[in-house]
Amino acid sequence: MSKTNITSRIPGFHSMSIEARLARLAELTDLDEAAVAQLSDTGNLRPETADRMIENVIGTMNIPVGVATNLIVDGREVLVPMATEESSVVAAVCNAAKQCRSAGGIATSSSGPLMIAQVQLVGVSDPENARFKILERREEIKSICDETDPVLLKFGGGFRDLEVRVLETDDGPMVITHLIVDTGDAMGANAVNSMAEAVGPRIEAWTGGRVFLRILSNLADRRLVRARGVWKLEDIGGAEVRDGMLSAFRFADADPYRAATHNKGIMNGVTAVVLASGNDTRAIEAGAHAFAARSGRYRSLTRWERDGEGNLVGLLEMPLAVGLIGGATKIHPTAQVALKIMAVSKADELARLIAAVGLAQNFAALKVLATTGVQKGHMSLHAKNIAAMAGAEGEEVEAVAAKLKEMGKVRVDIAERLLADLRGGKA
Ligand code: MEV
Repeated sequence: MSKTNITSRIPGFHSMSIEARLARLAELTDLDEAAVAQLSDTGNLRPETADRMIENVIGTMNIPVGVATNLIVDGREVLVPMATEESSVVAAVCNAAKQCRSAGGIATSSSGPLMIAQVQLVGVSDPENARFKILERREEIKSICDETDPVLLKFGGGFRDLEVRVLETDDGPMVITHLIVDTGDAMGANAVNSMAEAVGPRIEAWTGGRVFLRILSNLADRRLVRARGVWKLEDIGGAEVRDGMLSAFRFADADPYRAATHNKGIMNGVTAVVLASGNDTRAIEAGAHAFAARSGRYRSLTRWERDGEGNLVGLLEMPLAVGLIGGATKIHPTAQVALKIMAVSKADELARLIAAVGLAQNFAALKVLATTGVQKGHMSLHAKNIAAMAGAEGEEVEAVAAKLKEMGKVRVDIAERLLADLRGGKA
């Protein structure tokens, strides 16, 4: 029930200590001691670190971190931490990775870490002329960009290319400049945004137009990563399984309704590693989905084929703008440990592992969907969750979950009844 005297106007909230914010919030929303204690326990992220990461911090939200085993990527045995709240996701990668070990695991490649920043120019009556004028200033633009981030330059990054497009919009033509920048081991948002902001006034001066937006594009299609895996027929259960999986892929590739779910499954793996490494999950998700729709129709991010020996071949290509320096990756101690577990020292290596996990995740989903269906596999963990939701504790969880599975009805109301029976000595 909501309180009638609540106000969302809390002057000075942002400058309070976490404790003071919590006390104020508790007062406003009737939080009891247990709720305040829950929020006060920030787990493995120190409150002062959390408080520096975002605004108005009142606590942290812990998500389980699991480790994907069995992966061989580019000939290297790797263990990959995955942060996810969804059951079966980690197990699925472990299973998929196990089934392609005999074929050597997953091979990867990448296009290199090029990010795009966009500068939007409006109000020019001669957009094509403006486009040429900007393109003529390539060297000047390069200097402005490189001067903006000398550190990036020192580490081998910097301005690489210039693209200028005339875009027809409902507001008339706009001239969109793309600064293409090698951001090295950084995700690069700060670097390219600063460059776009530095170049903006010059573009106005050269063209007489008005610059509005100066921001990176999350459609990082110059930062593509590819993963390729072969699953031998005998390792996956034969031709019928393979053909079912191929048919599932074709369904996804032809139908956006299915492609959304298919790609969501890929992102189950991708996002989990992105999060564990402290990278920006939304940037990766936005890039992935925009890339999936690049043909004008939203399609599968993966492709699946059958090779000359009848084996199943899986291919994933997607933008993966992740970094190792800056942002939460550097600040969050768990992200640092995750990178150590993966033994990656370059952003590109991390991106390749993420793509390998995404491909394995898709393999697992297609296989289960083309054979048993997802519900059977979900049952175990799901049944335990339902048992816990019904109030089961300690050994009761296992007992109630086992009974739910046996009955084939994993429902809270049934779990509550089973728990009552158990406690009443009936079971
Ligand atoms: C569930 O989180 C993911 C799947 O729905 C993916 C898919 O359907 O391909 C199983």
